[in-house]
Amino acid sequence: MYYKNHIAKKMNIQGISENDVVSLFTTPPDTSIGDYALPCFKFAQIFRTSPVIIANNLASTFECDELISKCTALNGYLNFTVNRVNLASSVLSEILEKKQNYGSSNVGENRTVVIDYSSINIAKPFHIGHLSTTVIGGALYRIFKFLGFNAVGVNHLGDYGTQFGKLIYAYKNYGNKEEVEKGRVKELMRLYVKYHDEAEKDASLDDKAREYFKLIENGDKECNELFNWFKELTLKDVKKVYEDLDVTFDSYAGESFYNDKMEPVIKELNEKGLLKESDGAKIVDLEEYNMPPCLILRSDGASLYATRDLAAAIYRKQHYDFYKCLYVVAYQQNLHFKQFFKVLDLMQKPWAKDLEHVAFGMVSLEDGTMSTRKGKVVFLEDVINKCVEKAYDIINEKNANLENKEQTAKEIGVGAVIFGALSSSRIKDLVFSYDKALNFDGETGPYCQYTYARCKSVLNKAGEYGEYSVTELNEDEYNLINELKKFPSIVMSAMEKYEPSMITRYTVDVASKYNKFYFEHKILNETDKVKNFRLALTEATSIVIKNALSLLGIKTPEKM
Ligand code: ARG
Repeated sequence: MYYKNHIAKKMNIQGISENDVVSLFTTPPDTSIGDYALPCFKFAQIFRTSPVIIANNLASTFECDELISKCTALNGYLNFTVNRVNLASSVLSEILEKKQNYGSSNVGENRTVVIDYSSINIAKPFHIGHLSTTVIGGALYRIFKFLGFNAVGVNHLGDYGTQFGKLIYAYKNYGNKEEVEKGRVKELMRLYVKYHDEAEKDASLDDKAREYFKLIENGDKECNELFNWFKELTLKDVKKVYEDLDVTFDSYAGESFYNDKMEPVIKELNEKGLLKESDGAKIVDLEEYNMPPCLILRSDGASLYATRDLAAAIYRKQHYDFYKCLYVVAYQQNLHFKQFFKVLDLMQKPWAKDLEHVAFGMVSLEDGTMSTRKGKVVFLEDVINKCVEKAYDIINEKNANLENKEQTAKEIGVGAVIFGALSSSRIKDLVFSYDKALNFDGETGPYCQYTYARCKSVLNKAGEYGEYSVTELNEDEYNLINELKKFPSIVMSAMEKYEPSMITRYTVDVASKYNKFYFEHKILNETDKVKNFRLALTEATSIVIKNALSLLGIKTPEKM
């Protein structure tokens, strides 16, 4: 914006505002033509002549200065080349000064963003289907914080429903403490499957399970102790994965947390005339909005997923007074979110517009295993472990003498998983491939980490370097600096679009531009003047890669 505003101000074209001029700028196809292009077609009316002539005339009168070093006309476009030396010094000094804060800002000051992510189900496996919500949510959480927002991470646990009654029945009849303690979620799943096998033969089991669930709801001591124990076991199981992925939460208030908070909501719905009776159930009719009705209470009086989400949204608004409340949940739930957002809107909650469903596509593994196929669950922990093992093998092949091999393999393996999951726009379905994610030469986490380690190795070899100055730039240096310059605006866009993939793509661009520079030019065997500048550029690159990866939850080993 800085350059565009500067040029527009300088040109001072009568009959068109500076802002309008700024909005016309495009990017030339190649930096050798220029850095900013201004099409002159829109000026034809003002000057009453052809764009080609206008461009030629404007170019001949434009006076270059310390920011713009060249202005030429080509086919009705004015092409501006920025003073690269000037730009390079200001970008470099900004990065080297701000270091880990380069790219951060305080735009979010005094605003709270609640992010509902990962939101696992108790006594169910933490499988590859949860990968996206966990890493997208984790990245958004860090990005918002980096931009000065107060971010609140919520794990809206799926800890409500008759399945917990079934589990208690199964535990009491077919389970025991030792086995559950040993097998944890896997044992709970076994009990759950066993229950279903038995219930097929004996329909009365379902009544018993419902009884147990009622007991949980009514505060029965024994049932709640068991239920809380199942919860603890599940959370213990996922804790390691959360630690690996560097994901944290400020609240674990799950669905059952809203047990006593739904009644006022139902009352309010009723008072506002929104609740309708339908076959004994209570619904909010959404036909007018081309949606099926939102079910609020079943005919047996039980609440539903949507009822709890309504209560949760109202609670979050009261409790956090959020500026935005985001739900990082698969697109399969599109309708659910549209429905309950609409219900809040009909309840005349002015903040209903601040709720957003951050949807994402399905994840499957390359070998065709889907996250949900019966009996073929892929545990997220196993995916991570497999990547770490593969990373270890690669290190052994490439650099067997590396110290800290285990730790490094872990950082690379985990980095590969996170980066792989964040590689394309979140709405796209994703096929996760171990080999692709771990390809050191591909558009991957390891590739970016490797480039970071390369920068560090150059800087280590150089030791302390002297004062740098920028006097001239080759095309590779300029392209790299131009890329480094974009980081703050990339972080902003990633936040605005809820799209961490903008940061993965950007990091690959920075890495490949550094590598091009690295392979085409010498760094250490140069005159002091050239050497110091190239070292400063290397250091700036390492800072940007580190900042970018850390927003995604990816570590940057110093050596690989
Ligand atoms: N536990 C749910 C599931 O696994 C996701 C919950 C998302 N959050 C929400 N507030 N509905 O499908």
